Amino acid sequence: MNRYGSFLVRLVFVLSVTALPLASSWGDPLAPLPPSPPVPSEDLETPSKAALGKTLFFDPRLSANGAISCAFCHVPAAGYADPKQVSLGVGGKRGGRNAPSVLNSAYFPLQFWDGRAGSLEEQAIGPLTNPLEMANHNYASIVARLRKIHSYRVAFYRVFGAGISIDRIGQAIAAFERTLVTPDSPYDRYMMGDRNALTPAQKRGFAVFRGKGRCVTCHNGFLLSDKGYHNLGVPQTGPLSVDVGRYAVTHDPADKGRFRTPTLRNVALTAPYMHDGAFRTLGEVVDFYDRGGGKSRFVKDALIVPLHLSKQEKSDLVSFLESLSGETAQQKSFRASRSR
Ligand code: HEC
Ligand code: HEC
Repeated sequence: MNRYGSFLVRLVFVLSVTALPLASSWGDPLAPLPPSPPVPSEDLETPSKAALGKTLFFDPRLSANGAISCAFCHVPAAGYADPKQVSLGVGGKRGGRNAPSVLNSAYFPLQFWDGRAGSLEEQAIGPLTNPLEMANHNYASIVARLRKIHSYRVAFYRVFGAGISIDRIGQAIAAFERTLVTPDSPYDRYMMGDRNALTPAQKRGFAVFRGKGRCVTCHNGFLLSDKGYHNLGVPQTGPLSVDVGRYAVTHDPADKGRFRTPTLRNVALTAPYMHDGAFRTLGEVVDFYDRGGGKSRFVKDALIVPLHLSKQEKSDLVSFLESLSGETAQQKSFRASRSR
């Protein structure tokens, strides 16, 4: 088949799986992950910048007590999320929220459960001075610490042609984060036309996701997130008694208790779930939706209603969620080198 022909077959296939009546009336269409996330023109990417960012991401010397790296809470083996319900920072201080995955976060225009950070560059330096995370007194103290390390002095000059600064630390980490993308999940292969990429249970679960389960009303587009904010009535667990969510950013009373719809990519790897890590398994999450979410002291989203799913439909839905896990290019080449 010529290239044009195979493109048409793919297009028809993608339309046929996505353009169901329900799906087409909500948000962006479901789609495979674009191969690379957007890059700001003032922070163009180079492989050496991403490599420096990777070193910084895994370096506990970035924290006030020298014990906590970004990877301490964004654990590669846990899909770059935190397997602890809420994160422990310097000195064992507990934050109020579960650390989301950093995988594919470069595709989100706004970062965090409440969307309070604009760019990855801006986000990347936030944890450094957060008292509940890496707890540095100020940016100057961390820059001074890194300037004493010969290999960093050399690396920053090589990458930026300039010395160490807080902005360049943020740019390097953001460049690394933009390599943490997972475009090759079974779901992506299916959406690109490989009909055998999903198991029969996953295909049935996908139908529940778009149909009876109404998941696609909020989990849509290539991230399986509408990038919007909703209140599902997730039980508030962990150290906070109340978390107002998006309201803290907008001060719009309607935003009380609303949290960003997370991407569902790699969700099978990133337990526990929700902004406060309230649920331990995907089965618990599906049960929660099935009973129509939880109670909330704020206004709950009208889309969250009892679903009356059968046992089979629930387990198919979980199977579908498991098809959304992919590998980064680095994980892939690591695996290939081990099997050689
Ligand atoms: C002590 C644990 C901890 C450390 C250390 C930490 N984080 Fe986080 N991270 C979190 C938590 C908790 C959140 C969610 C906070 C929120 O939404 O209010 C988060 C959110 C994020 C997000 C937002 C993801 C998204 O999709 O919204 C990114 C990106 C991120 N962290 C990157 C980093 C980087 C880079 C570092 C190192 C400089 C780092 N984190 C260090 C706990 C941590
Ligand atoms: C009204 C919009 C909406 C609908 C409908 C919806 N979700 Fe969600 N989903 C969200 C929001 C918002 C969160 C985060 C809520 C929080 O933490 O308080 C979330 C969280 C999740 C999580 C946890 C992800 C993580 O990283 O912690 C999973 C899994 C999930 N949803 C799956 C589903 C499934 C399956 C369905 C269909 C049965 C569904 N969602 C329907 C908006 C929605």
